[in-house]
Amino acid sequence: MSASLRFLLPALALLASTVHAQQPQQLTYSEHIAPIIYQHCTPCHRPGEVAPFTLQSYQDVAARAQTIKFVTGIRYMPPWKADPSYRHFLDENTLTSQQIQQIQDWVDNGLQRGNPALEPPLPTFPAGSRLGQPDLVVPMQEAFTHQGNLQDLYRIFVLPTNLPTDRDVAAVEFRAGNRRITHHAIIGIDTTRRAQVLDAQSPGYGYTQFGGFGFNPTESNWAGWVPGMTARLAPNGLGKKLYRGAKILLQVHYGPTALTQKDSSVVNIFFSRQPVQRYIQTLPMTPLQITVGGTFVIPAGQLKTFRAEYRMPADASLISVLPHAHLLGKSWKVWGVKPTGDTIPIIKINDWDFNWQGSYRLPNLVKIPANTRIFAEATYDNRASNPRNPFNPPQTVSWGEETTAEMFLCYFDFVPYRPGDENLVLSAQTENELFQRPAMRLYPLYPNPAGAEGVTLGFSLARPAPVTLTLTDAQGRVVRRILQDETYSAGPHQLRLSTASLPAGLYQVRLQTPDAEETQKLTLLK
Ligand code: HEC
Repeated sequence: MSASLRFLLPALALLASTVHAQQPQQLTYSEHIAPIIYQHCTPCHRPGEVAPFTLQSYQDVAARAQTIKFVTGIRYMPPWKADPSYRHFLDENTLTSQQIQQIQDWVDNGLQRGNPALEPPLPTFPAGSRLGQPDLVVPMQEAFTHQGNLQDLYRIFVLPTNLPTDRDVAAVEFRAGNRRITHHAIIGIDTTRRAQVLDAQSPGYGYTQFGGFGFNPTESNWAGWVPGMTARLAPNGLGKKLYRGAKILLQVHYGPTALTQKDSSVVNIFFSRQPVQRYIQTLPMTPLQITVGGTFVIPAGQLKTFRAEYRMPADASLISVLPHAHLLGKSWKVWGVKPTGDTIPIIKINDWDFNWQGSYRLPNLVKIPANTRIFAEATYDNRASNPRNPFNPPQTVSWGEETTAEMFLCYFDFVPYRPGDENLVLSAQTENELFQRPAMRLYPLYPNPAGAEGVTLGFSLARPAPVTLTLTDAQGRVVRRILQDETYSAGPHQLRLSTASLPAGLYQVRLQTPDAEETQKLTLLK
């Protein structure tokens, strides 16, 4: 470090601390706190949603200021379990250290309201499907009554699809009927008749099963939902399959409630608009692959770590990851080691919480080269000091579907790799999307500069709209009409622009919908 820099540093530190010391007086609800709350908390803390009280006004927030300071300080709220310093995912909802500090300073300095005129408007939350008109609506066949006994309940509903043929599926959207009690949902599909048998054996609509479906269905991790999660269409050419005559297995976690309530939820299915070239496959890592930690048994009173290992046989593109354990689960770390020795961080959960599990979807596909060793490591806490331990005193626990048994599962959704996958955007939407969703977005062209091999054009729409896409030259003359008022669904789309017949030069790609327009420069080198 140079002498002058060394001299400067203490001065900078001093400057930083003065700035910080001045800040608390200036922090106001209107200008600093409301934007944080409305973006990160109100989506769940509003009428009819999963959280037990609303956070929609100065009064709401001031009345619970101390608890809010506490739960944000320990990062219990917002409930986002994946460590954002390890890997970012879609729908990530976390506060920065600076935002947490702002909440603390604001609370400690007397909950200044500030000028209410400066408060941002409450966000509006879309009602109905986010993706437009579903192709298939699969409702619960009757309302289910969740007793007001302050108990959690994991209930499975077997929903017929009555499809005469197999269909390719681009998106599965769960719509909670009663968000007040609906904590999360896991959706499987089944072509055996096992679920109907379990349903018939159990009184009432559906059957109760913790942790899994009570048997191994055709696909146990077909789709899922947690509060705050947005359904998205798979990029063109990618999708899942819904088998002819398959039953949808909807497992809903109903949270504790003091009042008996009813729920009728719905699963919306969006068929693929274009033929699926690559089906999304699910790879589960299970205790069969454990290499460190021995047999999957967690002795009473112990903290135990298991590590499983799987060697990826061919190049793959990772789409999402879903770790699963029950109540003794404490942490997860999942990563890959490429043949070159480089590490691919996949997910890290420092504080596993059965109540807040879900599928973590990557914003872009991540390439896992052939022969990458994937490691999944989970730690279980079977000591009496673990407040979530279902046994007191602790008992030795092993694999099983019951609340009191444990699981070690990590599901990966992937497709076989194709060159260019790294640039396939599942969504370029940021965590702000709920509040400032642009009507349309044109993604960066790829590659750019481009040659004779063509260019990939990507765009996304907030709602279905007619799209016009034109290529103009540097003088603004139309060189090619790529799309003319063609209606596209909401979500991301991709097109290929062939450049073979175009001379080298500067171009512009213009995307237009009735309420927006965006252009990007394209350089062709030949
Ligand atoms: C994904 C939905 C969701 C989001 C986002 C969310 N909460 Fe919550 N919150 C809940 C639920 C559900 C509960 C009740 C169950 C629990 O405590 O886990 C809760 C409980 C709380 C509690 C009471 C905790 C207690 O133990 O008494 C506070 C305070 C709170 N939230 C504040 C916040 C704040 C502040 C934010 C934003 C920074 C936020 N929440 C974001 C769902 C959410």
